[in-house]
Amino acid sequence: MALAMLSLASVSPSASLSLQENFKTNWKSGTSSLINFLGSDFSKTKSYTRTSMTVAVKVSRFNDITMAPPDPILGVSEAFKADTNEMKLNLGVGAYRTEDLQPYVLNVVKKAENLMLERGENKEIPYHLLDLNVLYLPIEGLAAFNKVTAELLFGADNTVIQQQRVATVQGLSGTGSLRLAAALIERYFPGAKVLISSPTWGNHKNIFNDARVPWSEYRYYDPKTVGLDFDGMISDIKAAPDGSFVLLHGCAHNPTGIDPTPEQWEKIADVIQEKSHIPFFDVAYQGFASGSLDEDASSVRLFVARGVELFVAQSYSKNLGLYAERIGAINVVCASSDAAARVKSQLKRLARPMYSNPPIHGARIVANVVGSPELFNQWKEEMEMMAGRIRSVRQKLYDSLCAKDKSGKDWSFILKQIGMFSFTGLSKTQTENMTSKWHVYMTKDGRISLAGLSSAKCEYLADAIVDSYHNVK
Ligand code: LMR
Repeated sequence: MALAMLSLASVSPSASLSLQENFKTNWKSGTSSLINFLGSDFSKTKSYTRTSMTVAVKVSRFNDITMAPPDPILGVSEAFKADTNEMKLNLGVGAYRTEDLQPYVLNVVKKAENLMLERGENKEIPYHLLDLNVLYLPIEGLAAFNKVTAELLFGADNTVIQQQRVATVQGLSGTGSLRLAAALIERYFPGAKVLISSPTWGNHKNIFNDARVPWSEYRYYDPKTVGLDFDGMISDIKAAPDGSFVLLHGCAHNPTGIDPTPEQWEKIADVIQEKSHIPFFDVAYQGFASGSLDEDASSVRLFVARGVELFVAQSYSKNLGLYAERIGAINVVCASSDAAARVKSQLKRLARPMYSNPPIHGARIVANVVGSPELFNQWKEEMEMMAGRIRSVRQKLYDSLCAKDKSGKDWSFILKQIGMFSFTGLSKTQTENMTSKWHVYMTKDGRISLAGLSSAKCEYLADAIVDSYHNVK
C-alpha cells in the first residue's frame, strides 16, 4: 500500500491527471480507508506540488504479532545446524540415520520409484498423456493406497475390512491425519474431550488446540521408575466423562518409549469399553518398533476384535522413510458399512476446504511397496534392519552408562523402552547442560532419538548423560 501511494507522484502527466481526478474523487474515502489500513498513528500527510498524499511511515499492521517460539522438536534441528562444534550430535527429531549418521533412503522406495517410472505412473510422463483423472487425486486420496494401508493396519482378512466398515482417507502423514480426525470430532462430537497421555508427542496438543477440541491429560509416565504409571492411567481414563476420546500410541510411545504390556492393553480396553470411550490411536511406527508389522499393530487389532469403534491415524514417515512425502491415513472403524460411508463422506468434506486433495507420489510408493509381495518382503527386511540398529545402539548406550557411572544408578529402564526414542529422565536444566556443554541436541522433555545415534557416539553420549545427571540439579 505504501509503495502504491508513493509511485503516484512519479506517474506521467496524463496518467497522473486521470489518477489525480480519481484521487480527488476518492480522496476522502481513499484517505480514510488508507488510514484504516495503516492505523492512524501509522501514517502522516505530506504535501507535494500537485496534491497531498498519505505516506506510510511505519508499514506494518502486524506489530502486535509476537515472534513465535521455535518448535520444541523441529526447532532443535535449527539450533543443531547453527552449532559448529565437531562433536555435535542431533538426537532431537525422530528421523532414522545410518551408522554414519546419514539419512537413509530405503532400497524398496528406490525400487518402487523405478517401477513407477517404468509403468508411467510417475509425474515425469508428459502432461498431455496423463489421464485427466490423474491431474488431481480424489479428495480421499489414491484408492490403491487406501486399500493397502487399511489392510496393513488391520490385517487383510480382518472382518472390518471384509465388511467395509473402515472409512479410510489418505492424509498428510500422521499430523494431517490426526488433524482431519480432530476436525471431525469438533464437528460431530461437540464438547467431547480428548484424553492425552502425560507426556505425549509435542504436536498432539497443538493439533487439538487448533481444531478447538478440548483435551485433558491422563497419567502415563512414572518418574520414579521411569516406567508406566499404569494405575494412574487407568484411574484417569475411568474418571473422564463417558464417551470421551482416548488418544493412545499404538506402539513405541513418543516420547517415553514405554508401552503397556499385552495384559495391560486388555485392561485398558476393558475400561474404555466400560466408559463407552472412543479409542483414537496414533500409529506412527508400525513395524519400526519391534521390527514386526503385525506385532506393532496388535494393540489396535485387540480393540477391533472387541468390536469397538475407533480412530487410527497412520504415518509412513518412519517405517518407509517417507518423511517429506507427507503420506499417511486416517481410518475410522465403524459398526456398519453404512456408517463408514457416511463418515468417509464427511472426512472428505472437511479435507476439501483444508487442502483440497492429497499429493500422489508418496501414496504411489506405499501402494507399490505394500501391494507387491516381493517389495513387501524386502521392506520387512529393511525395517528389521533399521529397528535392529536402533536396538543395538540402545544396548550399547546402556552398557556404556553402566560402565561409566559408578553411583549404582539403575539404567535398565533404557532397555525396557521400545522404538526410536529413549526417555532419559533428565530434567530441563540437565538437558540444557547436554546441549551447552556437550553439544548433544535433544528435546527439553529429556527425550533422545536413538535413531540419530551411532555406536561410535554411544560412549560420548554416556559421558554427557552421566555428567548432566550427577553434576546438574
Ligand atoms: C518426532 O517426534 O520427532 C517426529 O514425530 C517428528 C515430528 O514431526 O515431531
